[in-house]
Amino acid sequence: MPEILPGQSSEAIDRAVSLLNAGQLIGLPTETVYGLAADADNPEAVSKIFAAKGRPSDHPLIVHIGADDLLSHYARDIPEAAWVLAEAFWPGPLTMILKKAPIVPDVVTGGQGSVGIRMPGHPVALSLLRALADSRRARAKSGGGLAAPSANRFGRISPTAAQHVADELGDAVSLILDGGDCQVGIESTIVDLSRGVPVILRPGAITAEQLSLVLGEPINTPCSIMRDAPRVSGSLASHYAPRTPLQVLDVRTIAQALAGAEPVAAIVREDAGLQPQPNLVVLSNNAAAYAHDFYRVLRELDSGGYARILVQVLPDAADWAAVQDRLGRAVYRDPPDNG
Ligand code: TXA
Ligand code: MG
Repeated sequence: MPEILPGQSSEAIDRAVSLLNAGQLIGLPTETVYGLAADADNPEAVSKIFAAKGRPSDHPLIVHIGADDLLSHYARDIPEAAWVLAEAFWPGPLTMILKKAPIVPDVVTGGQGSVGIRMPGHPVALSLLRALADSRRARAKSGGGLAAPSANRFGRISPTAAQHVADELGDAVSLILDGGDCQVGIESTIVDLSRGVPVILRPGAITAEQLSLVLGEPINTPCSIMRDAPRVSGSLASHYAPRTPLQVLDVRTIAQALAGAEPVAAIVREDAGLQPQPNLVVLSNNAAAYAHDFYRVLRELDSGGYARILVQVLPDAADWAAVQDRLGRAVYRDPPDNG
């Protein structure tokens, strides 16, 4: 099994930097979910990510950076909007899709002409990224970004704790930096700035409203343009799915199912007013707090041997859009279409 080290320790950061410089993969905590990281400038190292995850090689990866100036190392023709958003939201849960610089290996972008870049808002991720960039400069090299998808097997629930990464990937990763439970709990917002008008490809903790406020223009959400959008693996109809069939139902139906003979588990919110019981998880009425716990709870219930996982319908409100999106992808479809 992989070694899990406390990410705050400087020895752990040094070990991680040596492994990355030697072309190995490491498990990386971020504020959204844990990532499976490789040296973004090393195509052989990056290709190991696809093997470890069982992910198709044409699905592009996000490059994580620890300083704004690396933006111009990995991207070209950077629009003013990108610098404005970086200033407002980085470090933080926002990924920007930009035209890729020629230096970015094709294996990172799945052969696309664009690249996803973000600066994670987690102290361990930032100190690792800065130490890695320093180690490059010491050898008169540039770069130091980390290509990292979520550290789950392809199509499964993203990990929000170090132990989840070990459970998902086992020996495919030799070292996992432990940065505690992820604060946000779902993946970053992705905004495409490579095609003129900004478009949100994946909703996240940073909302369309926040982005348009900072940009001073309305921002497009995916449904309007989905048909010819670039390939985003997180936008496959079914993704982030538990193995146990999951259904979205109203509280009454859930209460009836809990009272029946079938072994079901349920996730409701505080306002449901259901009596506590072992197979019932009560999450917050607040969208951010719900997102923080959602993947962890799904993962726990998924290994509980239940016939079905029932989730209370979410509020139809803008602040729930990101969780709505992830819940929609976790819903059971017959036959499953998550490859
Ligand atoms: O919060 C996050 O973004 C996490 C943490 C680890 O940073 N990462 C993450 O990576 O969710 P991943 O690979 O699981 O999802 C990244 C998404 C994928 O759906 C991918 O297709 C999309 O970003 N993506 C990456 N580069 C792209 C590009 N050039 N054009 C369009 N989509 C892109
Ligand atoms: Mg993922």
